[in-house]
Amino acid sequence: MIYSQKQTPFKKEAPVILGIETSCDETSAAVLRGETLLSNVIASQAVHVQFGGVVPELASRAHLRKIVPLVDEALERARVTLDDVDAVAVTAGPGLVGALLVGVNYAKGLIIAQKKPLVGVHHLEGHIYSNFLSHPELEPPLLVLIVSGGHTMLVGMKDHLHYRTLGSTRDDAVGEAYDKVAKILGLGYPGGPVIDRLAQQGDPNFVTFPKGLEKGTTFDFSYSGLKTAVLNFVRSLDEATLKAHLADVCAAFQKAAIDILVEKTIRAARTFGFKTITVAGGVAANSYLRRALKDQAEQYHLQVFSPAMEFCMDNGAMIARAALERLRQGYVSNLELNAFPSLPLDELSVTYE
Ligand code: KG4
Ligand code: ZN
Repeated sequence: MIYSQKQTPFKKEAPVILGIETSCDETSAAVLRGETLLSNVIASQAVHVQFGGVVPELASRAHLRKIVPLVDEALERARVTLDDVDAVAVTAGPGLVGALLVGVNYAKGLIIAQKKPLVGVHHLEGHIYSNFLSHPELEPPLLVLIVSGGHTMLVGMKDHLHYRTLGSTRDDAVGEAYDKVAKILGLGYPGGPVIDRLAQQGDPNFVTFPKGLEKGTTFDFSYSGLKTAVLNFVRSLDEATLKAHLADVCAAFQKAAIDILVEKTIRAARTFGFKTITVAGGVAANSYLRRALKDQAEQYHLQVFSPAMEFCMDNGAMIARAALERLRQGYVSNLELNAFPSLPLDELSVTYE
């Protein structure tokens, strides 16, 4: 279990929370005072670029090297010391187990030394709360579209800490599809930003790629067919044609990948009666997704919120912000906190009926 028994809510109005994130290939630390962000330091691991994807063992080692200086830098930029910190929050899962363990064990070390509360945070709960950093006026109920390298999910958030998964990917995540297609096209890692940029100059109707699970009423997603369709199409082109139409292939892939997200998100909002939609995760940085979702939502008088770019990628600030909500409701962890490579979001819900 992430949380030990429910405690009385944290008394301090605006606690200082140190947030630590090491679930994948970003090492990050942030300091939050109440809802005010004092610092957010993110170190992206460049070591994986040459391999075209994250190498778990290298990720753990890079986290180990960076965690101490990064936490120091976050405290320094926030102009606080460890003595000022009221609670330490850390991502406990899901993610790469070796990477998570670096953050969890470091956080445990800090709270033993400092005798402060520890709050284990679900990585996706962090992404959900990234929007509350950018839009403090936001209030549940919300429909959340989580789109990252590891997840593609529609989550109904009835109230703070109440989640119900309405749909999720049955195979690859959308960010993973971007990364794999970028690899096929020889565009390097991570694939999202470069495909996003190239697609802006391309013709999305150059070729029509299949959208996963388009038919029927499911809110689930599928991206492995799209990836294979791109691979087969690219193999059918000679080198010169591919070079001349690289931007077109990117635009056509992006259209198939994103349009289905937009369609299902709008349909889910209307089906379940949500008036407000938030988008979170690395792919929330995608310019086409941000624009298309806003345009579609307007037609149905739905509001859409996306986080600022620095809160789309994995970061410690979102972990600290989610922990603030946990502390407000009395959820703290203890020294038995472990790293959880897979961890269903719904299990954390207070209740959801
Ligand atoms: O949330 P995140 O930093 O890490 C995970 O929790 O997975 O997301 C990383 C993912 C990568 O797959 C990356 O290619 C994708 O987000 N990404 C994008 C964009 N920027 C990052 N995908 C599409 N368009 C972008 N602009
Ligand atoms: Zn993430």
